[in-house]
Amino acid sequence: MPATVIVGLQWGDEGKGKTTDFLAEQVAMTVRYQGGDNAGHTIVLGDEVFKLHLVPSGVLYPHIACVIGPGVVVNPATLIGELDGLAARGIDVSQVRVSRSAHVIMPYHPALDRLSEARLGGEAVGTTHRGIGPAYADRAARIGLRMEDLLDEGVLRHKLERVLPDKNLLLGTAPDAPRFELEPLVAAAAAWGRRLQPHMADTTRLVQDALRRGEHVLLEGAQGTLLDLDHGSYPFVTSSSPIAGGACTGGGIGPLQVDEVIGVMKAYSTRVGAGPFPTELADATGDGIAERGREVGTTTGRRRRVGWFDAVPLHYAVEVNSVSAIMLNKLDILSGLDAIRLCVAYEIDGERVDAWPTSADVLARARPVYETFPGWPEPLHDVRALADLPEPARRYVAALEEHAGVPIVLVSVGPERTQTIERAWRPMRRSAALFGAGRPVGPVS
Ligand code: IMP
Repeated sequence: MPATVIVGLQWGDEGKGKTTDFLAEQVAMTVRYQGGDNAGHTIVLGDEVFKLHLVPSGVLYPHIACVIGPGVVVNPATLIGELDGLAARGIDVSQVRVSRSAHVIMPYHPALDRLSEARLGGEAVGTTHRGIGPAYADRAARIGLRMEDLLDEGVLRHKLERVLPDKNLLLGTAPDAPRFELEPLVAAAAAWGRRLQPHMADTTRLVQDALRRGEHVLLEGAQGTLLDLDHGSYPFVTSSSPIAGGACTGGGIGPLQVDEVIGVMKAYSTRVGAGPFPTELADATGDGIAERGREVGTTTGRRRRVGWFDAVPLHYAVEVNSVSAIMLNKLDILSGLDAIRLCVAYEIDGERVDAWPTSADVLARARPVYETFPGWPEPLHDVRALADLPEPARRYVAALEEHAGVPIVLVSVGPERTQTIERAWRPMRRSAALFGAGRPVGPVS
């Protein structure tokens, strides 16, 4: 059975939760490998809507073990709130495991996030204010607290004694920022530890054991490739590695254990927060797409910025993630438009550019070069086969597939799991194929 990585190919919010949900029946374990409660998965199951930030979406299935890997930064209060909220709705959370090595978002991290954003003023990143950057910064500086530290009050006090003075010094530069006292913080952290102890584990061991048993492990990326710390439009990025490589470091698997990388993208683009967005639609067309697509951030409630699909970073995202198959989401949202535009290149300083410039400065000067496709008036919610899509929709999907260079194997036409067009496919990069025993097999229709 394969280890599959699910990765966002755009700026996040591509609908990765639906991909996980679609594959859930064949999966034994889902693993979050990076990010924190900046992420948000919305999953629609019948009449019920679940909004999750930290717990992998597989939790809604009793047969799936859910793992929060060492690459995630965990806000314990959020995690406890989510576990309690799910349990109150009758969901069994006993199989949720969080890595003992995952770093903790302490209460001073969101405060520092807000302070840093305020200092940046007009150049702010537009973060979610969840303390993600400051927590990862402490991890890199080796002064962070890990989940296992919550289990020992002595360790907690010792570590907090070391870092708190610096945090308070920094926070003290802003009159309205909070300060933190040692003993209340130790007490709160120790209480989180007591509550979360049954869920803490060496999750790398769990993942490896599952793979050895031949179980299908799904590694769920949060955010998206263009928000990747190394590969996105720095500095307008998040502080972790959403790309498929992040699944190895943050999930605890080796590169050759990954059999399949499913890239997830929407039929148009969205972005939350600041940063260049060449195809942004600041007009009624953009407003209409945002409204029909309910493009409001799950975590912050901010309206997402909306634009046409940008094929320039698509090829880059396919390469950097070694994407083997694509799920295209929200095609239904484009119904009713007279024309649909697809950005196929940029004009930068008078030159045509086909390659994605990772520098935010260069990207800010990019003007989109569009190809225009006819729209279609019909709603798509009931379509279940590509052949039944209106001809213009088929042409648009084919164009996206050509730009991606890998097959689009799933097309979503509505939020429900059943509102999905599935093309016949099987994994293209199974281990056997990697070692030369087989040839990649594409979709048949
Ligand atoms: P941070 O991750 O809160 O530090 O925010 C950094 C950037 O990533 C900002 O532009 C956020 O809007 C963006 N971001 C973080 N998480 C998500 C997400 O789940 N979806 C979309 N954008 C996100």
